[in-house]
Amino acid sequence: MSKTQDELKREVAQAALDFIAPHLTPASMLGIGTGSTANEFINLLGTSGLPFSGTVASSEASAQRLRDFGIPVLDLSLVDSLQFYIDGADEANGALELIKGGGAALTREKIVAAASEFFVCIADESKEVATLGKFPLPIEVIPMAENIVINALRAMGGRPEVREGVITDNRNIIIDVHDFMIADPKATETAINQITGVVCNGLFAHRGADLLLLSGQTGVRSLR
Ligand code: 5RP
Repeated sequence: MSKTQDELKREVAQAALDFIAPHLTPASMLGIGTGSTANEFINLLGTSGLPFSGTVASSEASAQRLRDFGIPVLDLSLVDSLQFYIDGADEANGALELIKGGGAALTREKIVAAASEFFVCIADESKEVATLGKFPLPIEVIPMAENIVINALRAMGGRPEVREGVITDNRNIIIDVHDFMIADPKATETAINQITGVVCNGLFAHRGADLLLLSGQTGVRSLR
């Protein structure tokens, strides 16, 4: 019988926990991501009994889930560095470049990833692609800049759509760019960041993952 999506998420979350466990000490600080795969990781971390001192979360939702397990959640401004960041992705390529932000947490995710020494990305293998961009690229935008950002993204060849009913933890809007195959993720990440009004885009290419764990029907694959 084939494994369900939930089983695949649990399996890859367990693989991430097994990977970081030997490196943890009572002083370890962890960055924790957002989404259903990250939630599986929180569930396992919360009952693991492993030594670590606390976490920084990439969203209010993850912070609440961590606190529900009695795990300390700190503000990033109080932390010098994070030993590991564990988070999911919407797409990943073989160069460990990612699209993230399906859960609208991309800006905080990018900040926590930047503060982390080692980023473990966890996903099931349906997220693996040769070329990024089939998943609409999320972009966090200051609300008053909606129109100028949409026009600039159209000029770049994408089909931008405002994500209806979504306001980020930073009180901004999300624009998803459809039909945007991304041949050069680093160049595209840089170019979108140049559009005035863009807070952050969901390409994690300049700071991609350090380790990509992908669960599938035959087990967990590891890409570095
Ligand atoms: C949230 C994210 C998530 O990591 C991404 O959407 C994957 O989520 P899931 O594990 O639920 O598939 O970037 O902003």
